[in-house]
Amino acid sequence: MNKLKWWQTAVFYQIYPRSFADGNGDGIGDFKGMIEKLDYLQALGVTALWLSPHYPSPMWDCGYDISDYEAVAPEYGTLEDFDRFLQAAHARGLHVLLDLVLNHTSDQHPWFLESKSGRNNPKADWYIWMDSPFPSGEGPGGEGVPPNNWQSCFDGPAWTYVPERGQYYYHYFMKQQPDLNWRNPHVKAAMWKMVRFWLERGVDGFRLDAIGTIYEDPALTPHRVPLDLAGLRHLADTAQTPAEKKRLARYWQEMFRYQWGGPGLHDLMKELRALVDEYPGDRLLVGEDDNIDYMGNGDDELHLVFNFPLMRTERLTPGWVRKNQAERLARLDALPTRGWPCNTLGNHDSPRLRTRYGDGLHDLQLARLHLALLLTLRGTPFLYNGEEIGMTDLLITDPSNLRDTMATWYYRALVEDLGVPPAEAALRAGRMSRDKNRTPMQWRNAPNGGFCPPEATPWLPVNPNYAEGVNVEEQDADPASLLNFYRRMLAVRQATPALVEGEYRPVHERARTYLAFLRQTASQTVLVILNDSNRRRRLDFSSLSPRPGRLIFSSQEGAPATCDLGRLDIAGFEARLIELF
Ligand code: NOJ
Repeated sequence: MNKLKWWQTAVFYQIYPRSFADGNGDGIGDFKGMIEKLDYLQALGVTALWLSPHYPSPMWDCGYDISDYEAVAPEYGTLEDFDRFLQAAHARGLHVLLDLVLNHTSDQHPWFLESKSGRNNPKADWYIWMDSPFPSGEGPGGEGVPPNNWQSCFDGPAWTYVPERGQYYYHYFMKQQPDLNWRNPHVKAAMWKMVRFWLERGVDGFRLDAIGTIYEDPALTPHRVPLDLAGLRHLADTAQTPAEKKRLARYWQEMFRYQWGGPGLHDLMKELRALVDEYPGDRLLVGEDDNIDYMGNGDDELHLVFNFPLMRTERLTPGWVRKNQAERLARLDALPTRGWPCNTLGNHDSPRLRTRYGDGLHDLQLARLHLALLLTLRGTPFLYNGEEIGMTDLLITDPSNLRDTMATWYYRALVEDLGVPPAEAALRAGRMSRDKNRTPMQWRNAPNGGFCPPEATPWLPVNPNYAEGVNVEEQDADPASLLNFYRRMLAVRQATPALVEGEYRPVHERARTYLAFLRQTASQTVLVILNDSNRRRRLDFSSLSPRPGRLIFSSQEGAPATCDLGRLDIAGFEARLIELF
């Protein structure tokens, strides 16, 4: 496997710093806590970490609104703590990616404070400022109307008026997250300086936040959706008929279409790639985007982009996965320098894997099956913290407990603008909020799930199911637990070259209740069978080889070590891996 880069053989684990481990007992995760858990992560078998933002931030978007790019949020620790963390991770063979938020800063970043102070300051053009096309001077701030009808994807209009400048600034996300003007070379220089700051400290690369939003349509073409953001979200909650759902999908696409993928991004990604390539150690760039185009020729822009299309379903059926793989791998293979896939089934923005892809009856079996899927598909997998113990979404129904401001904004819009009764609005806001999948890690069956001391108040409520076995300590002691299943599967993947570098070839392509595929190198062929139903079935794979196969792994106790390919008895929801000869 030595011709592969470290990130091609890696299994990543996303740490959400605020929720991972609280080392100082204040109810908020921190670097001290993360350092204490590195042994746990190493023993789990992951080989690389991605840290969601750890920078100082007013926390309007849980750290994705950065007020200082070259420091550490005081509640997480100091720069020295960060260095200790990085060094301790490296000492355990764990690579570390940081989150790189390029599109916007916090509105409390000194650059923005200076920029908004007037039209004639050195940073006046660092953000996207526009005049009103019809300045009436009669509004409360004398603002006239905004430059166009663009919406922020988080909280209403995308333009916010600043009386000091008599102008609007643009924000794709919250108004506390003004978009940087990347067409200004000084912005670029300042951001690249920051990138170097972390590369020089030794980080192994970056996950690039929301790159598609960096450049907008320079003509500011208005969208043609007859709704604003609140109206669109409301429609999303209430659409019932296929026609309504179709209209909704069209509206979502249409509403933001001019705010995404403007000209310039390829050049920018090339520049960033050249910059990281100056550093030794194959530093990595992973884009939060599913567009393979941002991998350039496969070797001159991003190394990886997430296969988000795989996640965009409520059920990971065999048919869905096959179609996804066929499309995805064909596109990656077509790049001049063949692209490497990158799969994930959950992160801090999406419902938890166990909740989302469960069927309400076999959620734990399905969670195992889906991990097996993620670790056997071709490409680098990304896991999300808490997935390994089967953490579930926690619906927060009291709006005063919501911390995701996108949801608190929605609650207010529902009640105040759309006349939705508060109880219903609370439920809908809780459902759309990302808090439900960001609750603190459950370490023990103890108050606050062992995340923080009993007397501390965790920053988000802890899911009470820590008392029902969803915690690390109890699962650690139980050989049959999900946690130990993760450990075994991770070990099997690392010990099986075909699973890491082998080609993917689907077999039994018409099967609707199970997924079967081969992973193949010149010297090893592995058959992967994932039974997506609770029914035992007898399967015949004798056309693949006349010789018996060797069992590599089964999620089922007692699977035979030697497998007769003509008569494979696969249990309900079993994941079975067989080496063929
Ligand atoms: C994508 C991040 O994953 C999400 O959490 C954040 O709110 C937006 N980008 C804005 O930075």
